[in-house]
Amino acid sequence: MTRKINLGFVPPETIETEDGIVLFNRFTSKKIYTDNKIMKEITPSELEKLTSGNVEITEPELKKLRLELTLLCNADCDYCLVYKNEIPQIGNSMELTTTKKIVKKFNSEIQDGSIMAIGGEPFIKKESLVYILENANGRIGVYTNGTLITPDIMPLLKKPNVATFFSFDGPEELNFHRKYKGGKPLFEDTLKGYLSLLEAGANTAVNCLVTNSNVNSMLDIVQNFHEKYGENSFGLSMPHHTKINNFEVDIVKYTENMKKLFDYAKNEGIYVDQIAKRLSPLLDETFRYYACKMVGEQETFYPNGSKTLCTKIDTIPELKDKDKSYFESLLPINNEGCYNCSSISVCGGGCFWDRTFSDDNMDARECHYNNGMLVKILQDIGGHINEKNKVVDMPPIKPIYKKMVSR
Ligand SMILES: C[S@@+](CC[C@H](N)C(=O)[O-])C[C@H]1O[C@@H](n2cnc3c(N)ncnc32)[C@H](O)[C@@H]1O
Repeated sequence: MTRKINLGFVPPETIETEDGIVLFNRFTSKKIYTDNKIMKEITPSELEKLTSGNVEITEPELKKLRLELTLLCNADCDYCLVYKNEIPQIGNSMELTTTKKIVKKFNSEIQDGSIMAIGGEPFIKKESLVYILENANGRIGVYTNGTLITPDIMPLLKKPNVATFFSFDGPEELNFHRKYKGGKPLFEDTLKGYLSLLEAGANTAVNCLVTNSNVNSMLDIVQNFHEKYGENSFGLSMPHHTKINNFEVDIVKYTENMKKLFDYAKNEGIYVDQIAKRLSPLLDETFRYYACKMVGEQETFYPNGSKTLCTKIDTIPELKDKDKSYFESLLPINNEGCYNCSSISVCGGGCFWDRTFSDDNMDARECHYNNGMLVKILQDIGGHINEKNKVVDMPPIKPIYKKMVSR
């Protein structure tokens, strides 16, 4: 369902490009490329199109069920958001009967949606995982350290509706935060699992957690997996806060390296989730209403089958009983403090959990990153514009970025 908001006249942002400037409407993503000499010739009707504040918000619709199949793990990663946040039900696994009920709900209530099998390490609760892979009618994402993958499950992982997301923080020398209980590095076994899926022709993706240990190598990491293994789908997330052993990333370096990665991903046709989420609204001229799916797109299930919005938020007594509408009220479009931000249309408010660790309930990393990427993307689009002084007609431009926004 969509909702229309009329903000009246929106004064355009002025952003410098290599050979001029772009006038940009921060709510509608309309853009006019121009330069100082010809700017005064922009016609009133083009200016009116540019500055109109008619924003369409797409309300979240339930599309995704996230199953914490087990909160057991064979690993002990230094930054683990489950163990280092002591989320509820650690050590528990989902009974098959519970999994069956959730899959039944998925198949009957959700069209064109997806199931996410995660944890803990989902391959520890193999019978529930197998049930999902055999029975869920929709896209299935399996999030794994890859160490427990055995040949018998390969036919299911090869199904076209299944994608397996392998966690790697880079090649072996950068993967040192990921290890078994007892300290042995995971890398060799994760790679074995990953290669077995590649050999079988299954859909894969690489999820990398970017911390100060690997932030300088972001481009090399993607290049390594792309050139060596043909990987085309990546996530390079910044760390979520952990109550124990918190990890950080230098957001200036993260943003600069993501800009470099943008150029490489564009050349090679690679999907990087943290780029795609900011690029799509600028290409489609849509408003990114929310970043975290918990405001309505996703429901999460604990191993015992109980539903929650966020397992990490559940560890905060004052927030654990808040409903979706509370979190929705914190989104940028409902927050006057965000109205003057140039990147409001690509932001979505970040992670509600991470926001709670700042005094102003904002994640300043998101503000820095979104503003940096906004400029990078607008400059890049500018390189494909032939007609200046007109509101850009986006449909002919979109195919240039097609592989960057679809997995
Ligand atoms: C919690 S693990 C569970 C699935 C599986 N055991 C695995 O290793 O992928 C899911 C993902 O969360 C990431 N992760 C763990 N701790 C994190 C943190 N503090 N911030 C952001 N991502 C984190 C992991 O790197 C992994 O890609």
